[in-house]
Amino acid sequence: MKDLVVVSNRVSIPEAGRSQAGGLAMALNSALARHGGMWFGWNGEICHDTSPQPTQTRRNGITYATLPLNAEQHNDYYLGFSNEVLWPIFHFNLGAMKFHRHHAQVYYATNLHFAEKLSALLTGDELIWVHDYHLIPLGEALRRQGSHAPMGFFLHIPFPSAELLRCIPGHRDLLASFFAYDLLGFQTPQDLETFCHAAIRILGAKRSDNVLRYGDRRLKLGIYPVGIDVDTLQREAQHSETKQAVRQLRTSLGGCALIAGADRLDYSKGLGERMLAFEHLLDDYPHYRRHVLYTQVASPSRSAITEYDDLRQQLESQAGHINGLHSDLDWVPVHYINKTYPRTALMGLFRAAQVGLVTPLRDGMNLVCKEFVAAQDSRDPGALVLSELAGAAHELEGALLVNPYDPHAIAEALDQALQMPHEERCRRHASMLASVRCNDLTRWWQRFLDDLGYAVSS
Ligand code: F6P
Repeated sequence: MKDLVVVSNRVSIPEAGRSQAGGLAMALNSALARHGGMWFGWNGEICHDTSPQPTQTRRNGITYATLPLNAEQHNDYYLGFSNEVLWPIFHFNLGAMKFHRHHAQVYYATNLHFAEKLSALLTGDELIWVHDYHLIPLGEALRRQGSHAPMGFFLHIPFPSAELLRCIPGHRDLLASFFAYDLLGFQTPQDLETFCHAAIRILGAKRSDNVLRYGDRRLKLGIYPVGIDVDTLQREAQHSETKQAVRQLRTSLGGCALIAGADRLDYSKGLGERMLAFEHLLDDYPHYRRHVLYTQVASPSRSAITEYDDLRQQLESQAGHINGLHSDLDWVPVHYINKTYPRTALMGLFRAAQVGLVTPLRDGMNLVCKEFVAAQDSRDPGALVLSELAGAAHELEGALLVNPYDPHAIAEALDQALQMPHEERCRRHASMLASVRCNDLTRWWQRFLDDLGYAVSS
């Protein structure tokens, strides 16, 4: 069996005794733990060195080869082109795009730098699996370094329509660079279809079933909805009930129903609309006053980017406004927390909640809603209010689906969730849990790696 090499922008090295925060980290560690191999990428640090070098760490049979970014790479490749051009456009938010030609140049140069450093660590007998929008041209750069390895790319975020893609200067080259891979994976059928449409229309690629041909390259496409490790998360949620902090949380509810959300503080998550929806709930259904609480964890993210900092200020002001208007001496309706918690703490929060509120304006998949489902006590589960524009909406038929741009519709769904009879909650939860189990984490990476082997040999 070939060794697996996983490449992603950010590498998360597990620390003994700590649960890993992100779904991506959990997913990739799971694949590497089974296969053995190496995870290559940024260690999250910024250095003064102009040409940062990787260092290697071994943990649980996995080699983590990580390197810092220099200040220019951090600013132009990571914050600039990746997160001020690709992230907003791929999330259908043209207004947030800020294009600078120099950032695009550094994006390609950083991908080349990663490819050079990675090539030096390869033996030639590996499967290479590249992740996400930061590293789209990495495959092409590795091929230029002489790599003939089977190479797959998985896009964790949505793929935009051809018309939006065309707003990115240099979009043809970006699109063409996907063709260096052998297999390209998407979260949903829509993403696969919009990619095909763009490749055919912009590049003149030819399609036959799920294979695209462009020049001498043949690219196989597939749909791999990313999942969670259900058993581990269920264990963590059950165990959370024994923890002091979760017991205190339950006591502090004082009999109020809890609506819970936990997201990165990102404009794609629809947090402002969500806050407004909760305000509508208190205004339009006054019987909930003093009987419901909304806890929103918003973990700080990409705060050097103006839009993220503006959103932080906006949410602080919205939460302050609702609390100022509606609180009583012994009741505060919004509990807004701007910090990062370990996953186990979030599982405790979700288990204590009657309603999970997950309403991104656009999301590749969204694992928070799947974690919420896994965290529930199936004897008395909470209900889920979910954006119909999250990839997970394709799978979670038991959720109350809402348009995330319509705060009144979210408030109506919250009312429905809070009133939902026990039998209906159990039925909806059982259907969601079955689907989360079916498309779990192991199935995600196993299907991708099987298809990558097949894509190369067929
Ligand atoms: O889900 C998309 C993603 O960019 C992941 O690749 C990443 O782990 C996560 O969001 C957090 O973003 P960042 O690495 O910018 O903090």
